[in-house]
This record gives sequence, structure tokens and C-alpha cells, in this order.
Amino acid sequence: MSPSDTASERSPLLDGDNNKDNNSRTRSREVLNGVLTLLFIGFLVGFLTLWNGSLSKDPHKAAVAILSKAPVIDGHIDLPILVRHGFRNNVTAVDLRRPTPGHLDIPRLRTGKLGGFFWSVYVSCADDGEDFLVPTNRVRDSLEQIDVAKGLIEQHGDVFQLTTDTRTLRSVISRGKVASMLGAEGGHQLGNSLSSLRMFYDLGVRYMTLTHSCHNAFADSAGILTSPEPKHGGLSPLGRTLIQEMNRLGMLVDLSHTSDETAIQAIELSKAPVMWSHSSARSVWNVPRNVPDNILKMIGLKEGQKDGVIMVNFAPQFVAADGNATLYAVADHVDHIGNVAGRDHVGLGSDFDGIGTVPEGLEDVSKYPDLFAELRKRGWSRRNLAGLAGGNFVRVWEGVERVSKQLKDEGAVAAYDIYDKRTDL
Ligand SMILES: *[C@@H]1O[C@H](CO)[C@@H](O)[C@H](O)[C@H]1NC(C)=O
Ligand SMILES: *[C@@H]1O[C@H](CO)[C@@H](O)[C@H](O)[C@H]1NC(C)=O
Ligand SMILES: [Zn+2]
Repeated sequence: MSPSDTASERSPLLDGDNNKDNNSRTRSREVLNGVLTLLFIGFLVGFLTLWNGSLSKDPHKAAVAILSKAPVIDGHIDLPILVRHGFRNNVTAVDLRRPTPGHLDIPRLRTGKLGGFFWSVYVSCADDGEDFLVPTNRVRDSLEQIDVAKGLIEQHGDVFQLTTDTRTLRSVISRGKVASMLGAEGGHQLGNSLSSLRMFYDLGVRYMTLTHSCHNAFADSAGILTSPEPKHGGLSPLGRTLIQEMNRLGMLVDLSHTSDETAIQAIELSKAPVMWSHSSARSVWNVPRNVPDNILKMIGLKEGQKDGVIMVNFAPQFVAADGNATLYAVADHVDHIGNVAGRDHVGLGSDFDGIGTVPEGLEDVSKYPDLFAELRKRGWSRRNLAGLAGGNFVRVWEGVERVSKQLKDEGAVAAYDIYDKRTDL
């Protein structure tokens, strides 16, 4: 996107305002602020409190009514990597207005009440050697995936809008567009460099998963179905600096895929709330990729806890035994995290378009309302469900923005630490 497009993302109501004089600009700004305040209040009412009107006794109708006010914000959708593998990143060959072979297209996301999602700008781990120093193309490939996501968002600009802060998120959702955030899925995508982190942020990336399924120079991974031998015992010294730099920038710390030690240390170190963009509960299905109860208990609003949101993953191998991954099993994960961390700390991160198989009943983005209907039957209130849909995540992101602003106000400066194994710099 061009710089002027980026500027309009931040103040969509100021489009075409460039030639006016200062007075009218000030007036416009006041009007804008007024409108944004109203949007903000409307959004809060939608997300966080009860609104007027009684809900249908029919759980499905109730779910659709709730999601119409507080749509789903999914923490992890893998459309860009699908375009890489299926279309050699040829964005113009992808038409999301028509049915796609994947899990997402525009008609189905409308049915499913999807109001926003993180487009994962994922590239896989590469063998970069014992000390992560063997050159790979991962930084280039990550840039390509950012480009693909932005290209698709722009190509379907009547539906999607690139979203890089919570104020824009609210306004995009209130205008019925699909808020499109970018998330990078692993420290291996940074080429061991904090500069890359800052440049990803500048390009619009707003969460970074500390690891994918490989260890990297910053942190240890949980692996996939079995955990590899730890390399650092959690965060490396550079990884600790990375967390501080993410807090300063306002980059969400994503703990999906990390080892338990990494997650515990990151929660303790981070000044800002944390997230799991796509992770389920280990007590419900015991794989290292899922979050154990002792870590879920670190998340909350009480003294000694950290705010956070665990966005439940639908990948069948992390949900239940072979053949048993169903919508009901996913609801069990949501329920369990709701019980242990609290219902204000759970969200959804489907992993759609990144998983080969899907749970029965949650086949694609059109099916979210069925999950909300099931949870409604299990006693989840309207407020609980609005939080699950997106309100909990928005609160976490706002917390991250607040900490970033505070750190910058206090004069925090960028970290220029260099990976100690590097010899070229
Ligand atoms: C990309 O896709 C479009 C539409 O299918 C096609 O016309 C174009 O030739 C493709 N470009 C490349 C480089 O393959
Ligand atoms: C799958 O679910 C069925 C029905 O609930 C249950 O009897 C069975 O034990 C489950 N399989 C495994 C491997 O957990
Ligand atoms: Zn993943």
C-alpha cells in the first residue's frame, strides 16, 4: 500500500481532506473525534455490556444475534500460505468473491459472522543449523507473504481493510468491513535480528509468535506432537530483549507454538498482556502444542497475574483423538479455558486454511455461529460470548497499545542488541 493509503487506514473519515485549510482541518478533526467517540461507545456497548432487546430462546438464533453485534475476530487464518502453495503467490489469480477450495471466501465469512482476523504471514522453519546462522530465505519469504496478504486485502478493498490499531479495528467493524490484521508466526522469520522485528512492525505486522515448531535464536519451541530437547531453557538473552522491544513497539507477544518454559518466562517478563493466537487446552487433549493449566492460571486480572487471551485452535490433532475432533470437542476446550483462566480470557484462532482436516461441525468460516450456539446451550451468557468472539482480544490489544505508549512516553529507546553468535556485524 502507498503511504497515503496507510494514512487513510488510520483516519478513514478524513479521506480527501488534504486540500482544506487548517481551521477546517481542526473542525474535521473535532468531528472525527466525536464520531470516533460515538463509534467507540457503540463498540463497547456491543462488545462488553448487555444491549437492549431479549435474545431468542433458540440457541442458534441467539448466537447469530450476538455475533451480528460482536462479530468473530479470529486470531489465526492461513490464507496467505495457501496462496503461496496453490497459486505461486499470484494474488490476481485468487477471487475470494467466489467459492474457494479452502476454508474461507467472502460469502462464507459473511454467513459465519467473521468481522476480523489475523492473516498469518507464516513461512515454515528452515534448517538454519545448530546456531541458526546458516543463511535461509525466510526474511524474503516473509516479506512475500506480507505482500500477498496486503495484495489480497487491497484487491478486495470493498470487504477487507488493513487494520493496525484498535481504533481502526472498531471503526472498520462498525462499518461492516472485515478488519484485516497481520501476524508473523515465528522468530525464525526475523533472521535473528531485532531490526527485522521493527521493520515488520512498520509494514503492519501486529503480533509475532515467538517460535514456530523449531527453536530459534530467541526462544524454545514446543515442537508439534513431541517436544524437542530445549536449546535455551526458554528465552535466550536476545529473546528477553525481544520481548522488551515488542512491548515498546506495541507488537503483541504471541505464545502459541512456544515451549512451556518460554511461555512462563515471557509472561513473567512482558509488561504488556500476552496472547495465544491459536492454541487449545492440554488438560482436554494432551499434546505439547496445547496450553497446560499451570500456565492458564498465570493469566487473569488479579494481583500477580497477567492479562491475556487464549484463542482456541481447531486443528484436529490438537483437539482430540483421531476421529474425535468435533465442534463439541472444540467447545470443551473453550469451556475448560473459560473455567481455568476465566471466560474473559478465551477467544478463537481457528487455523483455517492452515490445516488439512477440520473438526466435524466446524468445516469452515461459515460455521462459527454453530459453536456459539453450542456454548449458549452450555450456559455462556451474551457477555461471555461477545468476549469470546472478539471483545477479550480487543481488550488485550488495547492493553498492549497502552503499555507501548507508556514506555515511549517514559523515553524507552529501541534495542540494538546483536545476536551474539553473529560475526558479520
Ligand atoms: C496470474 O493470474 C492471472 C489471472 O489468472 C493471470 O492472467 C496471470 O497470467 C498470472 N500471472 C502469472 C505471472 O502467472
Ligand atoms: C472417541 O470418542 C468416543 C465417544 O465419546 C469414546 O468412546 C472414545 O474413547 C474416544 N476415543 C479416544 C481414543 O479417545
Ligand atoms: Zn501455527
